[in-house]
Amino acid sequence: MSVADRILEQNPAESIAAECVAFVGDNQTHSVVASVLKEYFAEPLLRDGGPNQAIEYLAGTVPPALLIVDVSEAVSPQTAMLSLTAAVPEGTKVIGIGSINDIAVYREIVDSGASDYLVKPVTEKALASALNRTEESQHSHHQPDNAAEQKARIAVIGSRGGVGASTVALNIAWILSEERKYKTALVDLDLEFGTIALSLDLEPTRGLREALENPARVDGLFIASATAKLTEHLSIMATEENLTSEVQYNPNAVDALFEALGRINDTIVVDVPRSSYAVRRRVFEAATEIVLVTELSLGGLRDSLRLLRGIREVAPDTSLRVVANRAMGPKQAMQLKDFQKALEHKVDLVLPDEPKVFNAAANTGKPLAQTNTRAKVCKALRKFIGEFHLPEQEEDPDKSKAKAKGKVKMKRGSKAAEKKSAPAKKKLGLFGLFKKG
Ligand SMILES: Nc1ncnc2c1ncn2[C@@H]1O[C@H](COP(=O)(O)OP(=O)(O)O)[C@@H](O)[C@H]1O
Ligand SMILES: [Mg+2]
Repeated sequence: MSVADRILEQNPAESIAAECVAFVGDNQTHSVVASVLKEYFAEPLLRDGGPNQAIEYLAGTVPPALLIVDVSEAVSPQTAMLSLTAAVPEGTKVIGIGSINDIAVYREIVDSGASDYLVKPVTEKALASALNRTEESQHSHHQPDNAAEQKARIAVIGSRGGVGASTVALNIAWILSEERKYKTALVDLDLEFGTIALSLDLEPTRGLREALENPARVDGLFIASATAKLTEHLSIMATEENLTSEVQYNPNAVDALFEALGRINDTIVVDVPRSSYAVRRRVFEAATEIVLVTELSLGGLRDSLRLLRGIREVAPDTSLRVVANRAMGPKQAMQLKDFQKALEHKVDLVLPDEPKVFNAAANTGKPLAQTNTRAKVCKALRKFIGEFHLPEQEEDPDKSKAKAKGKVKMKRGSKAAEKKSAPAKKKLGLFGLFKKG
């Protein structure tokens, strides 16, 4: 009797395709996988075992849409994953679970055709987020090749530190994603001193530095693993590299990053650092909208002038808007009309100084546009965004979501599944420092 016949005989019911099949080796992973899968699939099949059991199973049945396999007991997890991905048809997504926490292993496994690789101890959040990514990557493969070209790439830079560039970038991203319903990626390219993760009270994401140093590594799956999904529509890439070694930015990586992010997002908002000329230049060249944030001061004027000149050299035709932030407060040292005259550029938006609402938002680790939608700054930003050139939106977002679902069907809409679709890791502790009592 062949292996297939034997399995068919032993498991007649399972010869009808299960949507998701998982083989895991230990109790802890077993219970996490069980609890997450039941939120996503009607009848998931969960078994004890590893790659050998999975291969045996595959030999005797219709392949599932999603296969999850614990390869931690294999001599070489990479080889085990390779034989698994070779054993399934193209339509089957494979997620590996292992105990080796190493980016090189992750890369090899993903290169071998797996959708994702999770390191033990696997948490419910990590697994839910891997399932969402797998669904998303399936969606991205159905998009036309030039899809990335049509996406809005909004570059935000400050004339100097503290003028509010990150604040503007964050709130633009929030309004685009949560109010306008664009799938949005917010990328903090300041790997060392960026404040996006901090202001969202988020655990910094991993992988951005590697992406910016090795453009060849940037692909859809790598991007997905390096972003934190803050909400259904907003993902964040923000890191806090240690300050003891030079980041070797490779400017080509910016294009690769935009390309890959554009495949799964409608808009990309970039918080651009002033530190690396090569990166700045590449971002401006690729941007569809450039926003220069400044304060109305002499220093702000000098640095706005210098940046404007630099931007015009590399992106002469791109729409460039100047935002005067924290006006009408102690930060305003110059009159608006004097500033505009000296800059020889109009100030497109004046944002008032609103320290109270901003401090309150900062204490909650949320964007102002979320905590105080009626703040003057938010109202002004909403109008400002209305002038951006943004991709056309599909008529019915629910319909398009259904279309994009593809083969790995996730049970959405159930409260538990919704909760699990926002797996961005909140950083514990730090924000407690600012909280009163
Ligand atoms: N319009 C505003 N009114 C009051 N405070 C603001 C305003 N815009 C930004 N801030 C605050 O200024 C500080 C610096 O902002 P940030 O966005 O980090 O600046 P940058 O990125 O330009 O260095 C933050 O604490 C932020 O909350
Ligand atoms: Mg900043």
